[in-house]
Amino acid sequence: MASIPLKTKAVPASFLGQWSMFFRQFVKHPGMIGSVIPSSPALVSSMLDQVDWQRTRLFVEYGPGVGTFTRPVLERMHPDAKLLAIDLNLDFVAWLEAQIDDPRLRVVHGSAADVRRFISEAGHQQADYILSGIPFSTLPDGVGELICAETQRALRPGGEFLVYQYSAFVRRLLTGQFNDIAERVEWRNIPPCRTFRAMKTVSLAQAA
Ligand SMILES: C[S@@+](CC[C@H](N)C(=O)[O-])C[C@H]1O[C@@H](n2cnc3c(N)ncnc32)[C@H](O)[C@@H]1O
Repeated sequence: MASIPLKTKAVPASFLGQWSMFFRQFVKHPGMIGSVIPSSPALVSSMLDQVDWQRTRLFVEYGPGVGTFTRPVLERMHPDAKLLAIDLNLDFVAWLEAQIDDPRLRVVHGSAADVRRFISEAGHQQADYILSGIPFSTLPDGVGELICAETQRALRPGGEFLVYQYSAFVRRLLTGQFNDIAERVEWRNIPPCRTFRAMKTVSLAQAA
């Protein structure tokens, strides 16, 4: 698989620097961040191993934070593919823009609920994959439902919504929008994490 090496704009943050940035943001916005530390390398691998990278041309990431998944996604992605990363926290957006210099990456400040507008502004129609690390159980009322509905519309037929969460809360939201959902637990994360793989089937695509 061909990959483009990452160039860094600023001095790349150390592992501890990333954790420190993440923890400071958790203290400022606990409900929005939903976790004290970033995801583990094992969780990153188990989520990204499910992706058909050769067929992926638009990959969307919700809640990239300090880039725990963003960098590995870019390492795996095709040279012609694009990564659209959407985060509600402006400090994380500024951090990612300063840390990662890759022409395939577009980082936007806003809510995942507006994913279709961001995709269209980036010059695309639909996404092949959407990966989410946002804490659905602590979002304001109705926002999780809206994000799942918009995600279903934003995916191409056969596209997949990949979600990692500490709670099972999101299962009900996914069930309302997707009829093919696989769930498992990734124990090699602190704390252990539930992962969901929700596929947009052709019948749902026709109904959209
Ligand atoms: C648990 S952190 C995940 C960070 C990183 N992806 C990881 O796995 O370590 C949750 C992220 O979701 C972002 N977030 C929360 N609500 C959001 C929303 N409605 N739209 C986009 N991002 C959101 C937060 O700012 C934060 O970056």
